[in-house]
Amino acid sequence: MKLICAVSENWGIGKDNNLLFNIPKDMKFFREMTLGKVVVLGRKNLESFPGAKPLKNRTNIILTRNKDFKCEGAVVCGSIDEVLSLGYDESEMFVIGGEEIYRSMLELCDTCYITKVSETVPADKFMVNLDELPEWELTYSSEPQEDNGHTIRFCTYQRKK
Ligand SMILES: NC(=O)c1ccc[n+]([C@@H]2O[C@H](COP(=O)([O-])OP(=O)(O)OC[C@H]3O[C@@H](n4cnc5c(N)ncnc54)[C@H](OP(=O)(O)O)[C@@H]3O)[C@@H](O)[C@H]2O)c1
Repeated sequence: MKLICAVSENWGIGKDNNLLFNIPKDMKFFREMTLGKVVVLGRKNLESFPGAKPLKNRTNIILTRNKDFKCEGAVVCGSIDEVLSLGYDESEMFVIGGEEIYRSMLELCDTCYITKVSETVPADKFMVNLDELPEWELTYSSEPQEDNGHTIRFCTYQRKK
C-alpha cells in the first residue's frame, strides 16, 4: 500500500477541514499517481471535496464508523480490516488522508509520496513526521520547483527492508 500527501515544513496537512495550499502541479501529480487506482480516505476528507463527491476515475473507499453513511459512486467501509477484506491488490491502493487515516494506515504502507512545501503556515491536522521514524528512509527528492507562488519538492520515502 502507498500513501500520498502534501505537507508544510512542520508536516502540517490541513486546517478547518481544508488543504493548506493550492498547488496545481501537486494536484496534477496526485491525479497522475492515483488515476485508475484504489484510493482510501476518511469521511472528513471526502467532505472537504467539491460537492463531497468521490474522485473520478478511481475506486474510492470511504472509512466511517457511521453505519448509515452512504456515498454514491464509492465503497463505504466501517474499519480498516473491512477495507483489507475487499481483496483489492494492495500494491494498487493509495491512502489519501486525512490525518486520522494517515496515522492509522501508515503501518500498512511501504512507500510514501510526500510533496514538501517550503513554508510553515497555521495548521490543525498533521502527517506523521517520517524523518523522525527510524523505519522510514528518504529515497528520492526532486529539485525544488515553483508553482503558484510556492516552492515544492516531490519526495519519496520507503520503509527500510
Ligand atoms: N495535505 C494533504 O495531502 C491532505 C490530504 C488529505 C486530507 N487532508 C486534510 O486532512 C484534514 C482531514 O483529516 P481528519 O483527520 O480530520 O479526517 P479524516 O482522516 O479525513 O477522516 C476522519 C474520519 O474517518 C473515519 N474513520 C477514521 N478512522 C476510521 C476507522 N479506523 N474505521 C472507520 N472509520 C474511520 C471517521 O468518520 P466518522 O466520523 O464518519 O465515523 C473519522 O471521523 C482536512 O483538513 C483535509 O484537508 C490533507
